[in-house]
Amino acid sequence: MPVITCIDDLKRLHARRTPRMFFDYAESGSYTEQTFRENVTDFEKIRLRQKVAVDMSNRTVAGTMIGTPVAMPVALAPVGFTGMQSADGEIKAARAAEKFGVPFTLSTMSICSIEDVAAHTSAPFWFQLYVMRDEDFVDRIIDRAKAAGCSALVLTLDLQILGQRHKDLKNGLSAPPKLTLPNILNMMTKPEWCMGMLGTKRRTFGNIVGHAKGVGDLSSLSSWTAEQFDPQLDWGKVARIRDRWGGKLILKGVLDVEDAQRAADFGADAIVVSNHGGRQLDGALSSIRMLPSIVRAVKGKTEILLDSGIRSGQDVLKALALGADGTMIGRSYIYGLGAMGEAGVTKALEVIHKELDTTMALCGERDIRNLGPHNLLVPKDFEGDWA
Ligand code: GLV
Repeated sequence: MPVITCIDDLKRLHARRTPRMFFDYAESGSYTEQTFRENVTDFEKIRLRQKVAVDMSNRTVAGTMIGTPVAMPVALAPVGFTGMQSADGEIKAARAAEKFGVPFTLSTMSICSIEDVAAHTSAPFWFQLYVMRDEDFVDRIIDRAKAAGCSALVLTLDLQILGQRHKDLKNGLSAPPKLTLPNILNMMTKPEWCMGMLGTKRRTFGNIVGHAKGVGDLSSLSSWTAEQFDPQLDWGKVARIRDRWGGKLILKGVLDVEDAQRAADFGADAIVVSNHGGRQLDGALSSIRMLPSIVRAVKGKTEILLDSGIRSGQDVLKALALGADGTMIGRSYIYGLGAMGEAGVTKALEVIHKELDTTMALCGERDIRNLGPHNLLVPKDFEGDWA
C-alpha cells in the first residue's frame, strides 16, 4: 500500500488506476489551459506570514457554510462523470463527506441519481443544477432535489455552452466508455476499475437519461450540452428557478465584480467565485486573483465561496485569509476517488484538514475564523492593473 502524504500522491494513483479518458476529463482545462494552470500557480504567488511564540493549543478549523456546521469550510464541488472515476463514485464521495462532516454536491451530470445518493446517505447534500431548455425537466429535477431533502441548490451559471477540452474529443469521452479497441486495451490495464464497473448498474447519467427528451447521443457530455442546455439562461430565468426551489441558493461561476454584486442583490445565500476549474473561459483570470475585488464588493452581503485551483490546506487558508467564507474542491477529491474509492476521498479530506490545521498554527492562529490579510504576504501587483 503506497504511503499517501499529499494530494499529488492521489493524483498519481488516479492516473494509474482509472481509464485514461476519465483521468483526462478531470485533468483538463479548455483550449490552451492557461486559466487551468494559473488557478494553481496564482495560489503559489501568495506567501504566508510566519508567527512564532504564540500559544497554538486548542486549535479549531471548524466553521459553518450557509449556516450549517462543518468540520472545515471545504465542500466537495459538483463534478460530472464522478461515478466513472470509480464505480458508484457519487455515493462513495457523499459517504466520505458525510463521515468527515463537510457538504457534498451532486452534479446534474452525475452517474448516480439524486434518489440513489439520498438512499445511500443520511446527511443532506447540495444539488448542482444545469439549466436545460425543457422547463418541465428543470421543474421536475428541482422537485426531485427537494423530495430528496437536498439542503442547497447550487446553480451553475458559467456552462450553458461547453468550453472545448481537446483531450475529451480525442479520447471520445462517454459514459459508459465505447468498446473500441483502444478503450478496451486501456481498460484492461485497470482491473480494479473494471471489476467495480462490472459490479454496478450505474454506468450512465442517472439524473437525466430517461428524464430528458430529444438527445442524440445519451452517453456524451458534448451532445447533452449542445442539445439540451439552455443558451437563454439569464437573471429572469434564475429568478424563476429560485422561486421554484424556495430553499438555500448558491450561484456558482461568478468571476466578475458586477456579476457578484448582482448575485448579492438577487439574494443568493452564497456565490462561488469560480472559473469552473479553468474548463470554460480560457483566458479568464484565476479565481484566487479575482477574489479580493469580489470580497471588497460583496463581503457580508452574501457568503463567498471559492473554487478552482485548491490542491492543499495551504490554498484553503490563503482563500479564507483573503476573505472567502468557504471553499470547494473538485479535482483534489476526484484524484482520491479515482485512486482508492471512498477511502481515497476520505484521505484527500484528511490531507487538506491536516495541512490547514498545521499551517494555521505556524501562522500563529488558533481559530480559522481569525484568519485575515494579516496572515498573508500578497505581491503588490497580485490583482493586476488591467485596462
Ligand atoms: C462539467 O460538467 C464539466 O465537465 O466541466
